[in-house]
Amino acid sequence: MDTETGVINGLVDGTYVTQLRTGAASGVAFRLLAKRHCEIGALIGTGGQAATQLEAMLTAKELKEVRVYDLDFERAKNFAESMRKSLAKFPTEIIAVADADEAIDNADLITTVTSSTQAVFDGNKVKAGATISGVGSYQPHMQEIPVELLKRASKIYFDSQEAVLAEAGDLLVPLDKGEITKDKFTGDIGQLASNELVGRENDEEIILFETVGIAAQDLMTAKSIFTKIQEND
Ligand SMILES: NC(=O)c1ccc[n+]([C@@H]2O[C@H](COP(=O)([O-])OP(=O)(O)OC[C@H]3O[C@@H](n4cnc5c(N)ncnc54)[C@H](O)[C@@H]3O)[C@@H](O)[C@H]2O)c1
Repeated sequence: MDTETGVINGLVDGTYVTQLRTGAASGVAFRLLAKRHCEIGALIGTGGQAATQLEAMLTAKELKEVRVYDLDFERAKNFAESMRKSLAKFPTEIIAVADADEAIDNADLITTVTSSTQAVFDGNKVKAGATISGVGSYQPHMQEIPVELLKRASKIYFDSQEAVLAEAGDLLVPLDKGEITKDKFTGDIGQLASNELVGRENDEEIILFETVGIAAQDLMTAKSIFTKIQEND
Protein backbone atom coordinates (compact mmCIF):
# COMPACT_ATOMS: atom_id res chain seq x y z
CA MET A 1 0.00 0.00 0.00
CA ASP A 2 1.26 3.46 -0.88
CA THR A 3 1.95 5.04 2.51
CA GLU A 4 1.15 8.54 1.21
CA THR A 5 -2.03 7.96 -0.76
CA GLY A 6 -3.36 4.66 0.64
CA VAL A 7 -3.65 3.28 -2.90
CA ILE A 8 -3.15 -0.48 -3.08
CA ASN A 9 -0.01 -1.11 -5.11
CA GLY A 10 -0.30 -4.85 -5.30
CA LEU A 11 -1.44 -8.10 -3.71
CA VAL A 12 1.10 -10.80 -2.97
CA ASP A 13 0.63 -14.44 -2.08
CA GLY A 14 1.38 -14.63 1.64
CA THR A 15 2.46 -18.28 1.58
CA TYR A 16 5.00 -17.62 -1.15
CA VAL A 17 6.28 -14.48 0.57
CA THR A 18 6.78 -16.49 3.77
CA GLN A 19 8.75 -19.13 1.87
CA LEU A 20 10.95 -16.48 0.28
CA ARG A 21 11.55 -14.45 3.41
CA THR A 22 12.24 -17.50 5.57
CA GLY A 23 14.77 -18.77 3.04
CA ALA A 24 16.30 -15.31 2.83
CA ALA A 25 16.72 -15.14 6.62
CA SER A 26 18.85 -18.31 6.56
CA GLY A 27 20.69 -17.12 3.45
CA VAL A 28 21.69 -13.87 5.15
CA ALA A 29 22.79 -15.78 8.24
CA PHE A 30 24.96 -18.13 6.18
CA ARG A 31 26.47 -15.21 4.25
CA LEU A 32 27.34 -13.33 7.42
CA LEU A 33 28.24 -16.18 9.75
CA ALA A 34 29.58 -19.13 7.78
CA LYS A 35 33.24 -19.87 7.19
CA ARG A 36 34.57 -18.46 3.95
CA HIS A 37 35.09 -21.93 2.51
CA CYS A 38 32.17 -24.36 2.87
CA GLU A 39 31.69 -27.61 0.96
CA ILE A 40 28.90 -29.62 2.50
CA GLY A 41 25.37 -28.67 3.49
CA ALA A 42 22.60 -30.53 5.29
CA LEU A 43 18.89 -29.79 5.16
CA ILE A 44 16.68 -31.50 7.73
CA GLY A 45 13.00 -31.37 6.80
CA THR A 46 11.69 -31.40 3.24
CA GLY A 47 8.20 -29.91 3.63
CA GLY A 48 6.67 -26.69 2.35
CA GLN A 49 9.47 -24.38 3.48
CA ALA A 50 12.35 -26.56 2.34
CA ALA A 51 12.81 -25.48 -1.29
CA THR A 52 13.62 -21.84 -0.51
CA GLN A 53 15.84 -22.96 2.38
CA LEU A 54 17.86 -25.09 0.00
CA GLU A 55 18.02 -22.35 -2.63
CA ALA A 56 19.20 -19.86 0.01
CA MET A 57 21.94 -22.22 1.16
CA LEU A 58 23.20 -22.73 -2.39
CA THR A 59 23.01 -19.00 -3.09
CA ALA A 60 24.98 -18.12 0.04
CA LYS A 61 27.82 -20.59 -0.54
CA GLU A 62 29.09 -22.65 -3.47
CA LEU A 63 28.71 -26.15 -2.10
CA LYS A 64 29.89 -29.48 -3.45
CA GLU A 65 27.07 -31.45 -1.87
CA VAL A 66 23.87 -31.04 0.15
CA ARG A 67 22.29 -33.99 1.96
CA VAL A 68 18.57 -33.75 2.57
CA TYR A 69 16.80 -35.73 5.25
CA ASP A 70 13.18 -36.08 6.35
CA LEU A 71 11.47 -38.54 8.68
CA ASP A 72 9.49 -39.45 5.57
CA PHE A 73 12.27 -40.82 3.36
CA GLU A 74 10.05 -41.00 0.25
CA ARG A 75 9.36 -37.30 0.69
CA ALA A 76 13.08 -36.56 0.98
CA LYS A 77 13.82 -38.58 -2.17
CA ASN A 78 11.10 -36.85 -4.18
CA PHE A 79 12.26 -33.47 -2.89
CA ALA A 80 15.88 -34.16 -3.89
CA GLU A 81 14.80 -35.27 -7.35
CA SER A 82 12.67 -32.20 -7.91
CA MET A 83 15.36 -29.83 -6.55
CA ARG A 84 18.03 -31.37 -8.79
CA LYS A 85 15.90 -30.09 -11.69
CA SER A 86 14.78 -26.73 -10.34
CA LEU A 87 18.19 -25.82 -8.88
CA ALA A 88 20.20 -27.28 -11.78
CA LYS A 89 22.03 -23.96 -12.28
CA PHE A 90 23.95 -24.62 -9.05
CA PRO A 91 26.96 -26.96 -9.29
CA THR A 92 25.85 -28.84 -6.18
CA GLU A 93 24.96 -32.48 -5.81
CA ILE A 94 21.66 -32.88 -3.93
CA ILE A 95 21.33 -36.25 -2.23
CA ALA A 96 18.56 -37.75 -0.08
CA VAL A 97 19.86 -39.67 2.93
CA ALA A 98 18.00 -41.96 5.31
CA ASP A 99 19.58 -40.76 8.56
CA ALA A 100 19.86 -37.28 10.10
CA ASP A 101 23.34 -37.88 11.49
CA GLU A 102 24.51 -39.03 8.06
CA ALA A 103 23.14 -35.75 6.70
CA ILE A 104 25.10 -33.59 9.14
CA ASP A 105 28.31 -35.64 9.03
CA ASN A 106 31.10 -33.18 8.19
CA ALA A 107 28.53 -30.52 7.16
CA ASP A 108 29.61 -26.87 7.17
CA LEU A 109 26.04 -25.55 6.87
CA ILE A 110 22.97 -27.09 8.49
CA THR A 111 19.36 -25.97 8.22
CA THR A 112 16.58 -27.49 10.29
CA VAL A 113 13.07 -26.83 8.99
CA THR A 114 10.82 -29.45 10.51
CA SER A 115 7.71 -29.58 12.69
CA SER A 116 9.57 -31.62 15.32
CA THR A 117 9.11 -31.44 19.08
CA GLN A 118 12.49 -33.04 19.80
CA ALA A 119 16.08 -32.63 18.64
CA VAL A 120 16.47 -33.69 15.01
CA PHE A 121 20.18 -34.61 15.04
CA ASP A 122 22.99 -35.41 17.46
CA GLY A 123 24.57 -32.16 18.61
CA ASN A 124 27.85 -33.89 19.47
CA LYS A 125 28.30 -34.92 15.84
CA VAL A 126 28.26 -31.41 14.41
CA LYS A 127 31.71 -30.55 13.16
CA ALA A 128 33.72 -27.61 14.48
CA GLY A 129 33.21 -24.52 12.34
CA ALA A 130 29.64 -25.37 11.32
CA THR A 131 26.92 -22.74 10.98
CA ILE A 132 23.37 -23.85 11.77
CA SER A 133 20.08 -22.16 10.96
CA GLY A 134 17.17 -23.29 13.16
CA VAL A 135 13.95 -22.44 11.34
CA GLY A 136 11.20 -24.84 12.33
CA SER A 137 10.70 -24.28 16.06
CA TYR A 138 8.14 -21.51 16.40
CA GLN A 139 6.07 -22.65 19.40
CA PRO A 140 7.22 -23.19 22.99
CA HIS A 141 6.85 -27.00 22.77
CA MET A 142 8.69 -27.35 19.44
CA GLN A 143 12.38 -28.27 19.34
CA GLU A 144 14.84 -29.20 16.64
CA ILE A 145 18.19 -28.01 17.96
CA PRO A 146 19.85 -30.39 20.45
CA VAL A 147 20.93 -28.89 23.77
CA GLU A 148 24.49 -30.21 23.20
CA LEU A 149 24.69 -27.94 20.18
CA LEU A 150 23.49 -24.94 22.19
CA LYS A 151 26.22 -25.73 24.71
CA ARG A 152 28.89 -26.14 22.05
CA ALA A 153 27.91 -23.00 20.12
CA SER A 154 30.19 -20.03 20.78
CA LYS A 155 27.64 -17.57 19.42
CA ILE A 156 23.87 -17.61 19.05
CA TYR A 157 22.21 -15.01 16.83
CA PHE A 158 18.53 -14.38 16.19
CA ASP A 159 16.42 -12.67 13.56
CA SER A 160 14.84 -11.06 16.64
CA GLN A 161 15.88 -12.22 20.08
CA GLU A 162 12.65 -10.80 21.50
CA ALA A 163 10.50 -12.74 19.04
CA VAL A 164 12.49 -15.97 19.41
CA LEU A 165 12.26 -15.82 23.20
CA ALA A 166 8.52 -15.34 22.95
CA GLU A 167 8.00 -18.38 20.72
CA ALA A 168 10.77 -20.89 20.12
CA GLY A 169 11.00 -24.05 22.23
CA ASP A 170 14.55 -24.52 20.88
CA LEU A 171 15.64 -21.87 23.40
CA LEU A 172 12.71 -21.74 25.82
CA VAL A 173 12.82 -25.41 26.85
CA PRO A 174 16.56 -25.51 27.70
CA LEU A 175 16.32 -22.09 29.41
CA ASP A 176 13.41 -23.38 31.46
CA LYS A 177 15.31 -26.51 32.47
CA GLY A 178 18.40 -24.45 33.35
CA GLU A 179 20.47 -26.22 30.67
CA ILE A 180 21.60 -22.91 29.15
CA THR A 181 21.57 -19.26 30.23
CA LYS A 182 20.95 -16.08 28.27
CA ASP A 183 24.69 -15.28 28.53
CA LYS A 184 24.97 -17.53 25.50
CA PHE A 185 22.94 -15.16 23.36
CA THR A 186 24.91 -12.86 21.11
CA GLY A 187 22.13 -10.67 19.65
CA ASP A 188 20.20 -9.96 16.47
CA ILE A 189 21.65 -10.61 13.04
CA GLY A 190 20.78 -7.00 12.08
CA GLN A 191 23.21 -5.80 14.74
CA LEU A 192 25.89 -7.85 13.05
CA ALA A 193 24.94 -6.47 9.62
CA SER A 194 25.32 -2.95 11.00
CA ASN A 195 28.65 -3.77 12.67
CA GLU A 196 27.37 -3.40 16.22
CA LEU A 197 28.33 -6.99 16.96
CA VAL A 198 31.24 -9.17 15.92
CA GLY A 199 30.60 -12.17 13.71
CA ARG A 200 32.64 -15.31 13.26
CA GLU A 201 36.15 -14.93 14.63
CA ASN A 202 37.72 -18.20 13.49
CA ASP A 203 37.01 -21.38 11.50
CA GLU A 204 36.45 -23.50 14.61
CA GLU A 205 33.46 -21.69 16.08
CA ILE A 206 30.06 -23.36 15.94
CA ILE A 207 27.48 -20.64 15.38
CA LEU A 208 23.71 -20.95 15.60
CA PHE A 209 21.17 -18.65 14.00
CA GLU A 210 17.60 -19.03 15.23
CA THR A 211 14.68 -17.55 13.33
CA VAL A 212 10.93 -17.43 13.93
CA GLY A 213 10.15 -14.80 11.32
CA ILE A 214 9.27 -11.12 11.83
CA ALA A 215 7.03 -8.72 9.94
CA ALA A 216 9.95 -6.63 8.63
CA GLN A 217 11.12 -9.66 6.62
CA ASP A 218 7.70 -10.05 4.97
CA LEU A 219 7.53 -6.34 4.22
CA MET A 220 10.96 -6.18 2.63
CA THR A 221 10.27 -9.32 0.59
CA ALA A 222 6.93 -7.99 -0.66
CA LYS A 223 8.58 -4.66 -1.42
CA SER A 224 11.35 -6.27 -3.44
CA ILE A 225 8.80 -8.30 -5.43
CA PHE A 226 6.95 -5.06 -6.17
CA THR A 227 10.17 -3.25 -7.15
CA LYS A 228 11.11 -6.09 -9.52
CA ILE A 229 7.71 -5.92 -11.20
CA GLN A 230 8.08 -2.16 -11.65
CA GLU A 231 11.57 -2.61 -13.13
CA ASN A 232 10.27 -5.23 -15.58
CA ASP A 233 7.27 -3.15 -16.67
N1 LIG B 1 11.19 -19.40 11.10
C1 LIG B 1 10.24 -18.99 10.30
O1 LIG B 1 10.19 -17.84 9.90
C2 LIG B 1 9.24 -20.00 9.78
C3 LIG B 1 8.44 -19.68 8.68
C4 LIG B 1 7.55 -20.62 8.20
C5 LIG B 1 7.44 -21.86 8.82
N2 LIG B 1 8.20 -22.12 9.91
C6 LIG B 1 8.12 -23.44 10.58
O2 LIG B 1 8.99 -24.33 9.91
C7 LIG B 1 8.52 -25.68 10.08
C8 LIG B 1 8.47 -26.38 8.74
O3 LIG B 1 7.50 -25.75 7.92
P1 LIG B 1 6.93 -26.48 6.64
O4 LIG B 1 5.87 -25.61 6.07
O5 LIG B 1 8.05 -26.94 5.77
O6 LIG B 1 6.23 -27.75 7.36
P2 LIG B 1 5.72 -29.10 6.68
O7 LIG B 1 4.73 -29.65 7.62
O8 LIG B 1 5.36 -28.88 5.25
O9 LIG B 1 7.03 -30.02 6.70
C9 LIG B 1 7.65 -30.41 7.88
C10 LIG B 1 8.51 -31.62 7.56
O10 LIG B 1 9.28 -31.93 8.71
C11 LIG B 1 9.42 -33.33 8.74
N3 LIG B 1 9.82 -33.72 10.09
C12 LIG B 1 9.12 -33.64 11.25
N4 LIG B 1 9.86 -34.09 12.28
C13 LIG B 1 11.07 -34.42 11.75
C14 LIG B 1 12.28 -34.91 12.29
N5 LIG B 1 12.41 -35.16 13.61
N6 LIG B 1 13.32 -35.15 11.45
C15 LIG B 1 13.20 -34.89 10.14
N7 LIG B 1 12.09 -34.42 9.56
C16 LIG B 1 11.05 -34.18 10.36
C17 LIG B 1 8.05 -33.85 8.33
O11 LIG B 1 8.14 -35.20 7.90
C18 LIG B 1 7.72 -32.88 7.19
O12 LIG B 1 8.15 -33.34 5.93
C19 LIG B 1 7.16 -25.56 10.75
O13 LIG B 1 7.30 -25.80 12.13
C20 LIG B 1 6.77 -24.12 10.48
O14 LIG B 1 5.88 -23.60 11.42
C21 LIG B 1 9.10 -21.24 10.39
